[in-house]
Amino acid sequence: MNNKENELNQNRREFLSKGVAIAAASTFAMSATSAQANTATAGVVSSVAATDAPKSVSGYIKDPQILKDVLINAKKIMDTCAACDISGAGRCNGKGSCGETVPGMGGKRKSFVRNIEAFEEMSLKLQTVHTISQPKTEIELLGVKLSSPILTGITGGLTYNMGAANKLAFDGETMTEEKYARGIIEGAANSGCLGWAADGIGDPLETFKRRMAVVSEFRGRAVAQIKPRTQKEIFERLDIVQDVGAPFFAIDVDSAGRAARALPGKTVEPKDLKKLKEIVNYAKIPFIAKGIMTPEEALMCAEAGCGSIVVSNHGGRVLSSTPATMHVLPSIVKALRDRGYKMPILVDGGVRDGGDVLKALAYGAQAVLVGRPMLRASLGGGVKGVEMQFARFHTELVSSMVLTGVADVRNVDPSIVMQEV
Ligand SMILES: Cc1cc2nc3c(=O)[nH]c(=O)nc-3n(C[C@H](O)[C@H](O)[C@H](O)COP(=O)(O)O)c2cc1C
Repeated sequence: MNNKENELNQNRREFLSKGVAIAAASTFAMSATSAQANTATAGVVSSVAATDAPKSVSGYIKDPQILKDVLINAKKIMDTCAACDISGAGRCNGKGSCGETVPGMGGKRKSFVRNIEAFEEMSLKLQTVHTISQPKTEIELLGVKLSSPILTGITGGLTYNMGAANKLAFDGETMTEEKYARGIIEGAANSGCLGWAADGIGDPLETFKRRMAVVSEFRGRAVAQIKPRTQKEIFERLDIVQDVGAPFFAIDVDSAGRAARALPGKTVEPKDLKKLKEIVNYAKIPFIAKGIMTPEEALMCAEAGCGSIVVSNHGGRVLSSTPATMHVLPSIVKALRDRGYKMPILVDGGVRDGGDVLKALAYGAQAVLVGRPMLRASLGGGVKGVEMQFARFHTELVSSMVLTGVADVRNVDPSIVMQEV
């Protein structure tokens, strides 16, 4: 390992130990050159990345045609994720050999592991004496038509989260935040679904603006997230999000954990009901509150006028001991529906195949977000990799529906799920 690599590694470790990774997000610039994009990369690593020649990586499978090869490529470019069980679907269960103590790509903490285990504990009722052979998977989410009830997760931080920045990717080009984001957003759009552009706590407004150029390229077919910054900062960024044509936006309210250590320009804070209402009132597009884990807070979001919520524990990255999202989803759905709220309910955390998507729908979600699998697909296969990942989820969802006798994703009978005894 040369000095620069040592420095890069050290910087990443510093980021992780200071908790930056917990709330990290992407920094990219679609219209910028690679050098500009590197300069835009948040934090201490940017100076290293901007001046270094990209590091080559050996053993890539060029132009990968199957997901297994995409995962092999992703495994090669990442410092932080061993893409465990790459012969399967990259099915990390948080118990692999990556050695990450931060709940990062592999995730060692209980919250992440619980998400995965919760899906594994649920069984689907196999029933095939029916006439359903071509089930319907299309939904409309807050005015946007989706071919499947699946969105990408909101993930970024090529450098400090994935250890993949400034390396040569599988296609021989430098991996940048821009390239990563294009994989996510364009891959999702081409699949008839939606991809998210993430926000990073340390990102200056200029970086955010350049990032929104990506969203604007896919006007109406890409969505954006803003960190729970001060109200003024949120409104400033929201103006831009609206200008670039995002049909809705999210704030990951569960990124408030660094509030006590907030620095000027890097302030995040918890949002109470009053502040949620202010955001709803300011916004011209639906506001999704992400990181809701209790019925009480779901009801507050509904009362505030949020367009939707994401039941999420941030993929196990913000608090080490939360319940699995699938364990809290039913009570949240019940609380909202009992009080007559009709807002769509989204969920993420541990969704790893089409069967998991169906389980989430059976528990009352209208759609799911898929984080790490999409992330690996973008790193290892770019736009095509993400398309392949969406296609796999779609195929599995359809076959799971046929095998459980579900005709339409908009009407999934909860009784198709049985808890293992
Ligand atoms: C590397 C990485 C970066 C993330 N960055 C963000 C972020 O900036 N904003 C956000 O709301 N969630 C972020 N998340 C959380 C995801 O949006 C999502 O909640 C989680 O990954 C879902 O779990 P899954 O990866 O098991 O599918 C990140 C997750 C990962 C793995």
